[in-house]
Amino acid sequence: MCGIVGYVGPRSVKDVVLNGLRKLEYRGYDSAGIAVLDDGKVKIVKAVGRLVNLEGKLESHPVAGRVGIGHTRWATHGRPSDDNAHPHSDCSGRFAIVHNGIIENYLALREELVAKGHQFVSETDTEVVAHLIEDVFNGSILDTMVTIGKRIRGAYALVVISKDDPDTIIVMRKASPVIVGLGNGENFVASGIPALLEYTRDVIVLDDGEMAVVRADSVECFNLEGQPIGEKETLHVTWDAQSAERGGYPHFMLKEIYEQPKAIHDTLLGRVSDDHQQVILPELKWPAGYAASIDRIHIVACGTAWHAGLVGKSVIERLARIPVEAEIGSEYRYANPIYTPGTLVVAVSQSGETADTLAAMRLAKENGLRVLAITNVVGSSVAREADEVIITQAGPEIAVASTKAYTTQLVTLYLLGVYLAQARGLLLDGDAREILEALSNLPQVAEQVLDAASQIQQFAIRYKDVEDTFFIGRGLDYAVAMEGALKLKEISYIHAEAYAAGELKHGTLALITEGVPVIALVTQTHLYDKTISNIREVAARGAYVLGLAWVGDADIHKTVDEVIYLPRTLPLLAPIASVIPLQLLAYYAASSRGNDVDKPRNLAKSVTVE
Ligand code: G6P
Repeated sequence: MCGIVGYVGPRSVKDVVLNGLRKLEYRGYDSAGIAVLDDGKVKIVKAVGRLVNLEGKLESHPVAGRVGIGHTRWATHGRPSDDNAHPHSDCSGRFAIVHNGIIENYLALREELVAKGHQFVSETDTEVVAHLIEDVFNGSILDTMVTIGKRIRGAYALVVISKDDPDTIIVMRKASPVIVGLGNGENFVASGIPALLEYTRDVIVLDDGEMAVVRADSVECFNLEGQPIGEKETLHVTWDAQSAERGGYPHFMLKEIYEQPKAIHDTLLGRVSDDHQQVILPELKWPAGYAASIDRIHIVACGTAWHAGLVGKSVIERLARIPVEAEIGSEYRYANPIYTPGTLVVAVSQSGETADTLAAMRLAKENGLRVLAITNVVGSSVAREADEVIITQAGPEIAVASTKAYTTQLVTLYLLGVYLAQARGLLLDGDAREILEALSNLPQVAEQVLDAASQIQQFAIRYKDVEDTFFIGRGLDYAVAMEGALKLKEISYIHAEAYAAGELKHGTLALITEGVPVIALVTQTHLYDKTISNIREVAARGAYVLGLAWVGDADIHKTVDEVIYLPRTLPLLAPIASVIPLQLLAYYAASSRGNDVDKPRNLAKSVTVE
């Protein structure tokens, strides 16, 4: 969380930094700020609220120079305000820093610095670093940062400019992601790839415990002792600049919902053999016999990725007959999980930077387990630390509410399920072909589901002012119901609860009153009759039921008030078809309520704090 941008080079620093922040605003949007080395002085302008406020302020407080850094904040320590906004500076105003992460020992450091006479203007943990730099500065900013690294504890991506080192940006990383973008006679720093796409797609990813000294014509990397670490690998990112633009859509979320047919297609590309008999996953460099030796799988993830994991659990258990737990990262790491030597851990994360998912996978690695990552971001921490990585091909996902990342995670988990089943000799050729043909057809299915958009929009507008909604289903439908409820809550702020349809009568049914909207998923053929009975239970108590059922289901309209018909695919693959209407429902409810769909209150895209 928090977006960081830095630039050194001949372009307008203000423009590059603001452009980059615009692309990263999804990472935090409580306040924003910029610091530029302007005429030998560190000039800082910051403003509470959205980036647009900073842009406005810069009209009357112009900045210009060759070096600058910027930040868009998701508040952790200290409420959103001008003072708490980054960049922060020291008493002398010689340094400016931006930070993503948390300095855990900031209170002790602050007391020490106050006792020495330092004057603080903010409540943040970050400001202590600025004063600490001032306190220990010995003429060399690199040496100073080495000392800083020994004094601060916690997670950080720190980016510093100093009046004494014009034309230089210092970057330091521990736990929070930061990359250096390579240009020609110019270089960039950012906390995420989208900020750089307009300028370069060649990046160096700093590893934990590394620093970089970035100048217009050089990038030198060091460890935290200040020793050079030689040349680091340059990664080439394949995302194009347009993919990080809204491209005519009113919101990124809607664009990303509509990108799903392509994202699913791209994620499947090259991973299913032409005869639909085999899954091809060259990324899995497992020793011979490994797949057959796996005796349990722990999927670790957070938020929407965890919901994908719940579907993955069901799919892998059904196809490969391996017991699977789908665990929330923040719970798993403290749950003393039971491992066997044959336990495979699968970390699912769009950003590849979610702190709790990373911590969970690190725990698994400490226990000697093999970790497979499913992530959307090449070079992300999850990707770099896992033993094997499958990259989903969703392209940049900017809206805070995850959509195309979820469906591409599902596709990857389906591929993994079939792969494991085949490796264990559990899938007959005909069954594998049926599933792989249906998987290959999913882009068309997703395309057809999008045709229901206007019906969903009308429903959403009709019910936009309700306070409570319920999403019900059984089996895979229940897992998707959880994702549907999360989507609605996070962007429309309407309370939504997902319930296993058969469990309602044990308590939640008490909340069903006249007119309460219930969204019922009815795609699991083997559970059809049971689900219909559960729908009758809510309908009998006055609920207005919107059903999601297969096209051709001739009876469903007898039970529900309104139906969204889904194009047919295998019930096993239903989550891809059924989640899209739920994403649209959340989108239209939020937009008709006038909410900021892409940047819902209190949330951030990539949660890099625990
Ligand atoms: C945040 C986002 C969610 C996302 C979750 C996990 O809470 O708002 O949309 O699902 O983090 O993110 P990850 O990048 O690990 O998939």
